[in-house]
Amino acid sequence: MTEQVKIFDTTLRDGEQSPGATMTVDEKLVVARQLEKLGVDVIEAGFAAASEGDAEAVSRVAATVSQPIVLSLSRTKRSDMESAIRSVEKAKNPGIHIFIATSDLHLQRKLMMTREEVVEAACWAVDFAKQHVDYIEFSAEDASRSDREYLTHVFGEVIKAGAVTLNVPDTTGYAMPTEFGDLIRYLVENTPGGKDVTWSAHCHNDLGLAVANSLAAVRNGARQIECTVNGIGERAGNTSLEEVVMALKTRADLFADVTVGVETKQIFPSSRLLSQITGIAIPINKPVVGANAFAHEAGIHQDGVLKDKSTYEIMRPESVGLESNRLVLGKHSGRHAFVERLKDLGVDLSEVDVVKAFARFKALADKKKNIYDEDIVALVAEDVRAPDRYELVDLSVVHQAGGAPQATVRLRVDGEERSDSETGDGMVDACFKAISRIVGRSPKLERYQVNAITGESEAQGEAACSLSDDGTRVNGQGVHTDVIMASALAYVNALNKLEDRRRRRAADEVGGI
Ligand code: KIV
Ligand code: ZN
Repeated sequence: MTEQVKIFDTTLRDGEQSPGATMTVDEKLVVARQLEKLGVDVIEAGFAAASEGDAEAVSRVAATVSQPIVLSLSRTKRSDMESAIRSVEKAKNPGIHIFIATSDLHLQRKLMMTREEVVEAACWAVDFAKQHVDYIEFSAEDASRSDREYLTHVFGEVIKAGAVTLNVPDTTGYAMPTEFGDLIRYLVENTPGGKDVTWSAHCHNDLGLAVANSLAAVRNGARQIECTVNGIGERAGNTSLEEVVMALKTRADLFADVTVGVETKQIFPSSRLLSQITGIAIPINKPVVGANAFAHEAGIHQDGVLKDKSTYEIMRPESVGLESNRLVLGKHSGRHAFVERLKDLGVDLSEVDVVKAFARFKALADKKKNIYDEDIVALVAEDVRAPDRYELVDLSVVHQAGGAPQATVRLRVDGEERSDSETGDGMVDACFKAISRIVGRSPKLERYQVNAITGESEAQGEAACSLSDDGTRVNGQGVHTDVIMASALAYVNALNKLEDRRRRRAADEVGGI
């Protein structure tokens, strides 16, 4: 008899705590719909008490998706619990995720509470939530650095109060796989009532062990893994959904007692979509979804793969939604073929202005002979991003020999066209300065990078940048056949996000966890 390992996706909560990864409510809805298509079992849609924007996002996700359980995170405070309960009211399958720290370090230095006070607060919160919502998950923050016996006591008490899923976070990414697996087994065996609940693993990746720790947890009785698309999250991130799912599927021989319900062909579209929305580029060597994940460079490897793919490939690219023949459309492809391809790629057509996207596709096909899936996903991503206050209209750069390059930029600001010029240390620098001058803001450029999204000389450039201003950090992303244009689009996209953040900074915002 096999048991299911539930996939709990926290891209919209812990993932959003990644520096600069803040998403608008509309962007979160797009991601949530894709997560439903991906077949995750639980969506942690946010932390409703953090801000009005978070509460709205949770409640709109709750009203939109129907298959997964939709949760809001909550501290054990009454006001948090009330926001969380309100935010999931419209969900078909609502739930509340309550957490409090259990390590002595956190109790003494952060919460200033005794062990018994923590147990009391946890039970009060679970009991309170249970009066409104059946599905309650409880997390013992910093569990991997907590006293084991005390953990069994806390978990035992919250089970009595009505928690049905018990989460064991390795909050600081400190645990080693054998140690973490052992902890899960100990908790399952020694917690009163522990055999009747679902145990969950929530691992951070500070030592690069989040996936290994999650797998060790499953080997030792956990039946839920908390993870994020592309592994985004606080600091070094969370367990990567695509890696942990493909590890369980690829090594089903070692995990014969469990199954996982994810629709793996939606992995690649989900990964690209999130990267486009957050502006966080996918490292080229990222397992499963990186550009090189299925590329074979060495002659011996290429020879082997040509003879028999299994010589060097342990997974099929098609199984994660990456077609092996990725050349899909060209200049002569019609609207019908374009729309069919969008559907195959898992794009939600209700989110996309197909007429405009097709016009963008035709314009791209005039410049670029081969259009790949990545190009198409990039084309439609523009429609799912934050509403834009600033829109790049035109850009030209002149570079006279011996002189600094000069960029002239035309920008639409709140519908009105404005233009300005600036010189800079390079062409990109000149563009960024001209744009800053038009919008009257000079945020700090924290990071800037350009990649080719497909591997050919005429490939589109994908530029990503991080800007910070007033203590807020955002990522921007832009795609174009001209890398200077892609860079300017990324910069403008980041400025739009800064604008959006400014608007959303509600008075009662308490930030992430
Ligand atoms: O890492 C952590 O401990 C968390 C909890 C809130 C579950 O994210
Ligand atoms: Zn976490």
